[in-house]
Amino acid sequence: MTEFDAWAPYYDLIHQGLPGEAQYYVEEAIRQGGETLELGCGTGRICIPMAMSGVTVTGLDNSSRMLQLCRARMKKVGKLPGKLTLVRADMRTFDLGRQFQFIAMPYRAFMHLLTPEDQMACLQCVQRHLNRQGVFILNVWAARPSTIAHAAQAKEKFTFAGRYPAPWGKTRLVHHHSAQYDEYLQRITESHRIREVDQHNRLLHEETLSLTRTWLTPREMEHLLHRCGFCVEAVLGGFNGIPFNAGSTEMIWRLRRPKSQPTSK
Ligand SMILES: C[S@@+](CC[C@H](N)C(=O)[O-])C[C@H]1O[C@@H](n2cnc3c(N)ncnc32)[C@H](O)[C@@H]1O
Repeated sequence: MTEFDAWAPYYDLIHQGLPGEAQYYVEEAIRQGGETLELGCGTGRICIPMAMSGVTVTGLDNSSRMLQLCRARMKKVGKLPGKLTLVRADMRTFDLGRQFQFIAMPYRAFMHLLTPEDQMACLQCVQRHLNRQGVFILNVWAARPSTIAHAAQAKEKFTFAGRYPAPWGKTRLVHHHSAQYDEYLQRITESHRIREVDQHNRLLHEETLSLTRTWLTPREMEHLLHRCGFCVEAVLGGFNGIPFNAGSTEMIWRLRRPKSQPTSK
């Protein structure tokens, strides 16, 4: 059971992605032309539109329930112009036995790798699966020390995060969340309380879901990526193509294998 298995029924309601993100990855997959691999594909928010645009894509995730929802979504879409294959595997240890022209790791999925060992293991797997001329795009939150310091001081208390119609009936879901920041481990431990209520606001069901992530600074990302043998082609601060700058809240790393690197296969 992974952390995301419990999230699966609520994921699409609560996590709707970043502005321009899905379109950016779909366009890149079309431009690259060859096979695409999405790491942490979840319920298919990005890999399904890729396959709908004619791309041959493999979606990898270690949550069986997220993949189950992805399969249900694929079924609803019907026949795809491209091809989507789903694989249940861990992004730290996967071995698909072939290479891809484009590898995407959208929506801060890298932040779920909580230690430098896990992060390096994943980046080494990507190295082995990336074509010599291929592109790897990885997005993480750009954590500013001042933002972390401010957030870390907040008392651990649930705050209102949203209210949504339940996708399965006439009830509503009321979402509160809280977060704790471990400044030594650079780890955010979030609690998300989901309450299902009827038209009269009577509580029908309550669940608390956890989400654990690590944050990385731009300098740490740069060292980690160089250490794992990647060449940085560009760092963007948004999916509209603006370069990363001091005001950016996202880092979008566009990476390649070094030209002189021997093949790892
Ligand atoms: C933030 S979600 C992103 C989902 C999807 N890409 C999207 O944009 O909606 C991160 C995904 O990574 C998956 N994940 C987390 N750790 C993983 C691991 N070690 N191996 C494979 N998948 C993992 C989770 O199950 C989840 O589906």
